[in-house]
Amino acid sequence: MRALVTGCAGFVGSHLTESLLSDGVEVVGIDCFNDNYGRSAKLANLAHTREWDGFDFVPVDLARGDLADLVSGCEVVFHLAAEPGVRSSWGSRFELYLRNNVLATQYLLEAATASKVARFVYASSSSVYGEAEAYPTSEDALPRPHSPYGTTKLAAEHLCHLYHRNHGVPTVALRYFTVYGPRQRPDMAFSRFCTAALDGERVTLYGDGRQTRDFTFVSDAVQATRLAATAPVAIGGVYNVGGGSQVQVIEVLRRIEQLAGRAVSVRNLPAQAGDVRHTRADTTRARADLGFAPAVHWEAGIQAQFAWTAGAGVVGA
Ligand code: UGA
Repeated sequence: MRALVTGCAGFVGSHLTESLLSDGVEVVGIDCFNDNYGRSAKLANLAHTREWDGFDFVPVDLARGDLADLVSGCEVVFHLAAEPGVRSSWGSRFELYLRNNVLATQYLLEAATASKVARFVYASSSSVYGEAEAYPTSEDALPRPHSPYGTTKLAAEHLCHLYHRNHGVPTVALRYFTVYGPRQRPDMAFSRFCTAALDGERVTLYGDGRQTRDFTFVSDAVQATRLAATAPVAIGGVYNVGGGSQVQVIEVLRRIEQLAGRAVSVRNLPAQAGDVRHTRADTTRARADLGFAPAVHWEAGIQAQFAWTAGAGVVGA
C-alpha cells in the first residue's frame, strides 16, 4: 500500500508516518514547515523516517494548489496538516487558519476526487464541539466551536462530508481530543510543563487549572487513525478519538512535579479566549465501528512524555 501523509513532520503526523513505514507501507510525506514552531524540531521529528526506504518526503504547501500528481498513486490519504492551536487563532492569524485548514483541505479533496483514492482520513478536533451540550460528548452533539480554530476544523469536516456525498470520496473524520506524548507541540500544556519543570522555570496556568481535558496519548491517536483507513463501515463517518479519562490540568502539573522531584512555580493568568472548560469524548462509536480502544492511561503517558523531554535535548533549547 502507498499512503500520503500531510503534516508528516508534525507531532501526530510523524508518529503516524513511522507506524505505517514499520508495517511496510510506502509513505509519501508532505510538510511545508509552517511557522507555528521551529523547523529544527520538525526536522528532528522526521529523523527516524529516514531509516526506511519506503519514505518519500515532499516539501509542499498544500494551499498553493495543484496536488493531483501527489495524490495519484496513493490509495490512502491521511490529512493531518493544519494550522494548529486554539488560543492563537484570533486576530490577523485567522487568515492562516482559513488558508491552511479550509482552503488546503478543499484542494486536497479535489485531488482525491480526481484520483479516486480508497480512503481519505481527516484529522479533525474536539474543538468543533465548543462548550459541549453534554459530557461525555457524542458525535451527534451539535458542533458549536468556541474558537476561530475550531470553526476552521469544522468547516473542513463539512468539506469532507460534502465531497463524500457529492463525489463519492471515501472520507472519515476523526475528532482528536488533546493529543499528548513525545514530540507534542511546544505551545501545548504538557510540553510547556515538562520543559519548565526540568529547567526550573515558571509555568503559566490559564484560569484556575481545574479545567479538564480528555487527554489522548499519541499512540492511541495513531491506532484510531490507522483503523479509520481500513474499517469498512467508517466511510462517510465522524468519530471521537479520546484517551478515556477526564483529567484536570492542575492534576497533571502536580504529577509532573513529582516526576521532576521539585515544585514548579506558577504564574496565574485568566482563562484564555477560545478555551473551553471541559472536554470528554464518548468513544462508543469508534469502539463499535473502528474497533478502537485507548490503551495508555494518562499517568503512564505523561511519564513517557516527561522522559522523552528529559532525554531529547528539548530542555534549555
Ligand atoms: C489542543 C490542541 O492544541 C489543538 O490543536 C487540538 O485541536 C485540541 O487540543 C483539541 O483537542 O481539539 P488544547 O486542549 O487547548 O488544544 O490543549 P493544550 O494546549 O494542551 O491545553 C490544555 C489546557 O491547558 C487548556 O485549558 C489550556 O488553557 C491550559 N494551558 C495550556 C495552560 O494552563 N498553560 C499553558 O501554558 C498551556
